[in-house]
Amino acid sequence: MLKKKNKRDIKRFSKQELWSIIDHSNLPKHVAIIMDGNGRWARARMLPRVAGHRVGMESALKIVEVASDLGIKVLTLYAFSAENWRRPADEVGALMKLLVEFLKRELISMKKNNICFQTIGRIAGLPGWVQQQIKWSIEQTCQNTGLILNVALNYSGRLEIVDAVKGIIKDIEQKGLELDKLDEETFSNYLYTADLSDPDLLIRTSGEMRISNFLLWQLAYAELLITPTLWPDFRQREFLQAILEYQQRERRFGTIGKLAQSK
Ligand code: FPP
Repeated sequence: MLKKKNKRDIKRFSKQELWSIIDHSNLPKHVAIIMDGNGRWARARMLPRVAGHRVGMESALKIVEVASDLGIKVLTLYAFSAENWRRPADEVGALMKLLVEFLKRELISMKKNNICFQTIGRIAGLPGWVQQQIKWSIEQTCQNTGLILNVALNYSGRLEIVDAVKGIIKDIEQKGLELDKLDEETFSNYLYTADLSDPDLLIRTSGEMRISNFLLWQLAYAELLITPTLWPDFRQREFLQAILEYQQRERRFGTIGKLAQSK
């Protein structure tokens, strides 16, 4: 484990150095990422916003690769929120096309690297041609046992909770689910992420200090890592830095922590 006094050096390490310093027995099981800053990246270069999304897609491909190589169990990427429909129609259209391009390019690597593709969100609200590609990617990779690549599409954390409550009420009425037996674990089983562990680490790029309606229930105990790096510049080295920084944190889950215990 990296000594505290060397923390400042994290930014200077190469990808290979980071790889060798990381404690591979103490990886976050589930990493969730809010990929933000594509528009600002493009504006800084006087390019259209879509150019930022395109380079952002390249970042996503690179991060999936390193997460899989590292042995992370679940990677959740926030690609399109339920609020993103409010963007100009041409940007929304371009994002849908990029998503399909991402899935087509990723399919080859998912098959090669044993990656299982999943989604969360209201997929039925996406255009038919996008749904078709999603379905194909899921079918083609659902037997894979390595990294779960979970992409949030037409996703809203509040709507997810509303959908869970609807599912619970239906099961109370039709399947005899007992209200008194409803606890946190049962509630979690009605979320889109029922089969996944909660994220251990949330990364948000571009310096914004908010969670933007993402995994509201599941992030309860996640370590938050906000980096000023814009998503198109966030590549494998930055991801490994984030993992190393996560490993410097003490996760307390409401307890008093190791330092206080030793006093
Ligand atoms: C936020 O940047 C990014 C998005 C809304 C879209 C994310 C999409 C990609 C990275 C490309 C496709 C990737 C996959 C995995 C399908 P922003 O536009 O809000 O940036 P800004 O805050 O600087 O304007």
